[in-house]
Parts: sequence; C-alpha cells; structure tokens
Amino acid sequence: MATPVLDKAEAEAQPASPYITVTFRIRRFDPEVSAEAVWEDFRIEIDPKERVLDGLHKIKWDVDGTLTFRRSCAHGICGSDAMRINGKNRLACKTLIKDINPDKPITIEAIKGLTVLKDLIVDMEPFFQAYRDVMPFLVTTGNEPTRERLQSAEDRERFDDTTKCILCAACTSSCPVFWNDGQYFGPAAIVNAHRFIFDSRDEAGEQRLEILNDKDGVWRCRTTFNCTDACPRGIEVTKAIQEVKRALITRRF
Ligand code: SF4
Ligand code: F3S
Ligand code: FES
Repeated sequence: MATPVLDKAEAEAQPASPYITVTFRIRRFDPEVSAEAVWEDFRIEIDPKERVLDGLHKIKWDVDGTLTFRRSCAHGICGSDAMRINGKNRLACKTLIKDINPDKPITIEAIKGLTVLKDLIVDMEPFFQAYRDVMPFLVTTGNEPTRERLQSAEDRERFDDTTKCILCAACTSSCPVFWNDGQYFGPAAIVNAHRFIFDSRDEAGEQRLEILNDKDGVWRCRTTFNCTDACPRGIEVTKAIQEVKRALITRRF
C-alpha cells in the first residue's frame, strides 16, 4: 500500500494546470438581428501561451457557433485574421494571450474604416480595389527572355522589405486618413506599388507613380506612422511611402 508521503510526492509531481479564465469582450454585429453592434462577453478557459485565434475557435466551436470571423492559415501567412485587439490592429493568430494582459477583458472588434458585414468580418473590396489599381504585377516589354530575369542583390535590396506584405489590411485600417473617407489609396496599396516601382526589372514605374499622384494618392499621407506600428510583418510602411513621394518629386527610382 502506498504511504501518504509517496502520495504527496506524486501530487507535487503533477504539473499545475496551465489554464486560466479569460474574458473575451467581442463587438458583435449581425444585420439580420439588429442595426446596432453590441459588446458580448465570453468567459473561457485558455492556456496563456495560446493565441487569441485559439480563444475565438473555442467560442465558435464550443459556445456560440454564430460568431463570425475570417482565418485560414493560422500562422501569420494568409493575412485573413487582422482585427482590433485591445484597440490595436493585430493578427489573431500571432497574438498570444499572455502578451495582452489576460487579467482584464480582452476587447476584440473588426478593423476600422471598412464596412462591417458580420461580427469581425469587413467588406475588403475597397481595400483590394486600391491594391488592383496600382498594378501589382511585373510589367515588361519586348521579347520574352529565354532565361530568368536576373537582378543584382543590391537591386533586390531596394524593395525587399515591401515584398513581405500579406495584404492583411492592418495598416490601411489603422490610418486616420483612410478612416476619414475611405477614398485614400491607403498604405497597403502604396507598399505594393513600391514593391514594383523599385524593381529594376519592371517598366511601369512611371505609370504607377502617376496613379499615386492622384488627389487620393500618396500626398494624403500625414506621416502618422500608425501603419508602421500595425504591420504584423514589420514592414517599414511609412518609409516606403516616403520613398514613393520622393520618387514622384525626383522621378528617380
Ligand atoms: Fe498587412 Fe503590413 Fe501588408 Fe499592410 S503592409 S497589408 S499591415 S502586411
Ligand atoms: Fe496613414 Fe501611415 Fe501615412 S497611418 S497617414 S499612411 S504614415
Ligand atoms: Fe492566416 Fe492569421 S490566419 S494570417
């Protein structure tokens, strides 16, 4: 028969439960139910090392299947789960519970400046229209080469940072100029224009600059830096915008 001393040792050997109780305070909106959005609290058990996306899954799968949000890769690649978490734009799949003070309710709402369709889902069409408008593809003329188009490491370096964009919209939807009327192209479109304007193999830089010379183009940026702070890929968004502005003035890129 096991002695009480051994029982105690065994009990002490058991790892403490990693779970804590956290309140997710989510801004809900369903146009079929009400024209007004409402905040709703969900108390869940979660390991602080888990991510906000894991908490949203727990709620959707175990508590309320009507909770609506986008996500796909769950690893910071697809860009589909940008949302405002405690007032800051972040990817739910890249935000650990322990990093956002789980002692207080965690507020979660849709990104700003785009029309909310349901709960955390916004209409991304204006965002993608601005992206399409800057021609986010390589433009070349002349004969097709018989081998890959070579580029020096230095030439590649000029736009390396802006190739990292995953089109999550965290930047554009954190920009006060975009919130104002939604007409501004927005930082994400400019980042993606930058990616091609400064590509030595591309031949449509002038065209893209003219597109961004529009009244709703780069000149509307007020250098607020919200976009740079919000970017989950660490892209120097404001710097890229400044480089496009400078290229417009000097016509050198
Ligand atoms: Fe998202 Fe950054 Fe691209 Fe903006 S620049 S869309 S924040 S990845
Ligand atoms: Fe907006 Fe970023 Fe410019 S937040 S104002 S696009 S620096
Ligand atoms: Fe793909 Fe978060 S789910 S980036």
